[in-house]
Amino acid sequence: MSIHPCADGVWEGLRLAPGLARADVAVGAGERASLVVQGGVLRWVGPSAALPAGYARLARRDGGGLLATPGLVDCHTHLVYGGQRANEFAMRLAGASYEEVARAGGGIVSSVRATREASEDELFALALPRLSALLAEGVCAIEIKSGYGLTLEHERKQLRVARRLGQALGVTVRTTFLGAHALPPEYAGRSQDYTDAVCDEMLPALAAEGLVDAVDAFCERIAFTLAETRQVFQAAQRLGIPVKLHAGQLSDMGGAQLAARHGALSCDHIEHLSQEGIDAMKAAGTVAVLLPGAYYTLRDTHLPPIAQLRAAGVPMAVSTDHNPGTSPALSLLLMANMACTLFRLTVPEALAGITTHAARALGLSDTHGLIAAGRPANFVLWSVGEAAELAYWLGHNPARTIVRQGRIVKG
Ligand code: NIG
Ligand code: FE
Repeated sequence: MSIHPCADGVWEGLRLAPGLARADVAVGAGERASLVVQGGVLRWVGPSAALPAGYARLARRDGGGLLATPGLVDCHTHLVYGGQRANEFAMRLAGASYEEVARAGGGIVSSVRATREASEDELFALALPRLSALLAEGVCAIEIKSGYGLTLEHERKQLRVARRLGQALGVTVRTTFLGAHALPPEYAGRSQDYTDAVCDEMLPALAAEGLVDAVDAFCERIAFTLAETRQVFQAAQRLGIPVKLHAGQLSDMGGAQLAARHGALSCDHIEHLSQEGIDAMKAAGTVAVLLPGAYYTLRDTHLPPIAQLRAAGVPMAVSTDHNPGTSPALSLLLMANMACTLFRLTVPEALAGITTHAARALGLSDTHGLIAAGRPANFVLWSVGEAAELAYWLGHNPARTIVRQGRIVKG
């Protein structure tokens, strides 16, 4: 039994954020809208004045003119890990690059050490406040990757924690197996052997346990080659699991084209991305996931090709990429702000990026990222004058009411 009250009833007197709702009856400019929730599901969306008679006896909830958006979706996180890496932050401030830190034994591998040392319960306790911070801003669906275990046992531990977090907090969690994140030290010089273990042992075992919703890899000169990434994708495909890719963060290895050929849900980072990669993503329906927190933290200056992605019509999502190395970010609204300020997204693009397109990057287009009848009730009522404020404030959370999985979890 959830401790949170049920959200069933008629939520009236709302404003709908432009582009983020599909009304059953068109809502005119300046007109107040209602959302009908029954059995935890959105049943009707339209003008308050046009509420169908059949819903008239339901409990009324005054929306007080608040702005309604769908629940936010954070489509790329590494939320479960041991330790933290503030020391690397200091190293980078002193001039070291991410690549230099990684080659010096820091980077992902240092989080692997701390994650392996932590028990499942410890990892759960560490991740819980991070997830709570994201949920407080209205996140209703989140992706959580493995990739700091790099053995079957420790990758399983991370993915189990991700599933437990979803159950404990009543939030949709999509798990992604990122065994091909970094070469673990015990495989030094044996990259092919490790890739074989990822594909032939770890992935099939974890998939059989129901722990893998998608498969990801880090295709980069400090991580895995194009050929190794292809092998990972083929293993995923044999099991019928969708793929996504960390592509073009430091250099363009052609990962986007490869991912698109495998029908990838998304290519993420993509600061370094060719027109050929963009065209392949467009043709495959692959979402471009922009990660301004990592760009900012690494003081990157190589911008993703936003204008070309926009011109090609590739859907752009925006995510925290929460991780202890390159993006210790716990605010998706701040990422929307950074996507506008650093990457020059428009406000509507940024808001679609943390809702509709983020849902698509997780294969959740039918259930998340849009206010529409027939979907589970996941929405946020914001105390703002206009939608642009959601990407405007720095370090302010205007979420007044949050309905997640049909429950009023705030407000
Ligand atoms: O998305 N690029 C690779 N993976 C993470 C960084 C992980 C880490 O440094 O621990 C990212 O930025
Ligand atoms: Fe990442």
